[in-house]
Amino acid sequence: MSETTQPRPDEGTTGDDVSGAEIVFDDVVKTYPGMSEPAVNSLSLTVPAGEIVMFVGPSGCGKTTTLKMINRLHEPTSGTITIDGEDIRSKNATELRRTIGYVIQGGSLFPHMTVKENVGLVPGLLKWDKARIAARTDDLLELVGLDPARYRDRYPRELSGGQQQRVGVARGLAADPPVLLMDEPFGAVDPITRQRLQDELMSIQEELQKTIVCVTHDIDEAIKLGDRILVLQEGAHIAQYDTPTNILAAPANEFVEDFVGSGSSLKQLSLARVDELDLQQPVVATVGDPGAEAARAAEAAGQRDVIVLDSRRRPAGWYTLREASRMSALPAGSSTEVSTVDRRATINDALDSMLASTHGGVLVTGRRDEYHGVLTFAAVTDHIRATSEEASS
Ligand SMILES: Nc1ncnc2c1ncn2[C@@H]1O[C@H](COP(=O)(O)OP(=O)(O)O)[C@@H](O)[C@H]1O
Ligand SMILES: [Mg+2]
Repeated sequence: MSETTQPRPDEGTTGDDVSGAEIVFDDVVKTYPGMSEPAVNSLSLTVPAGEIVMFVGPSGCGKTTTLKMINRLHEPTSGTITIDGEDIRSKNATELRRTIGYVIQGGSLFPHMTVKENVGLVPGLLKWDKARIAARTDDLLELVGLDPARYRDRYPRELSGGQQQRVGVARGLAADPPVLLMDEPFGAVDPITRQRLQDELMSIQEELQKTIVCVTHDIDEAIKLGDRILVLQEGAHIAQYDTPTNILAAPANEFVEDFVGSGSSLKQLSLARVDELDLQQPVVATVGDPGAEAARAAEAAGQRDVIVLDSRRRPAGWYTLREASRMSALPAGSSTEVSTVDRRATINDALDSMLASTHGGVLVTGRRDEYHGVLTFAAVTDHIRATSEEASS
């Protein structure tokens, strides 16, 4: 965690400050040399500015090909693609690519370059001055949850898979492109890290309002992240293009139904966010407080445990009354893992974290890990009950 914070725009930005650009495909065909059938057959599609559109579909249906035509890594055989009304062929491909972020699985960092050099690559090509690149790099590392002082001079091999992926996202955003393309960006990390990266991407998007096109093979990821989902069949034929809610409620055909899979009422849990549920606001203690005093205050409030926050209101510990009362001063680091979940996480994610928690709940955090409250198991089960009653009535 870094101590060099800078104020950010208030949370809960409205949609007024969209910085993304609209992408329009008009009758786009891509036939690879030697192939009898086109990989992409007559695709027409509008990706609205400032939205996240998730491409899903079986392997080989043309997702990656479609994505790579947007930044001209592949050229269409026929048809046109425009970004904010401008034909992408009006610029040369290299120039175009500097205005489009591109993030692929694993982050694809250059191994011989430090984190700072990787992130600053495109700004450098755009001839930004050194001070501006350095400031931008630190800002982005903060944004993706990596302490700049700790990580900027490291090499990719000195980072975990999840951290490399974060740097990949920072690099994609470096030159502040209106469009960000992602191809299975979180495919190579473990489920918990994937969940964190997804939550972070949503926070980032809330702040930046880019146009993000993201390929995934994971329907749950598509439901969680997408403003819209494009379900593709072979030849990039559109099976359905709609919001996650509508796709779950009314799959357009059998193909979509099969693809979305069974248990779609459970999948509704991937639509609801933690911050839509009621959080509890117990009495909290601060690092350094005498443990016995904190335990007495919690007990007087009818609580069975003590939640400890640091000076920046980030969770620092979560103890039973007995544990806390034995501590002369509540420590800065917890000896046990504190289960936290981002306020943008889905109810599904929260349930996963709860199963690993010994306190029958999780602490909910927002931007910069600031504590928001406690989500209890009871609140989640109430929600599930209410949702399934609604669905069956
Ligand atoms: N560079 C290429 N040369 C020839 N055929 C390709 C190339 N890239 C992809 N294809 C073919 O085009 C089709 C679509 O591939 P792709 O866009 O990678 O699908 P997806 O990302 O949905 O798995 C597949 O049949 C694949 O074999
Ligand atoms: Mg692919």
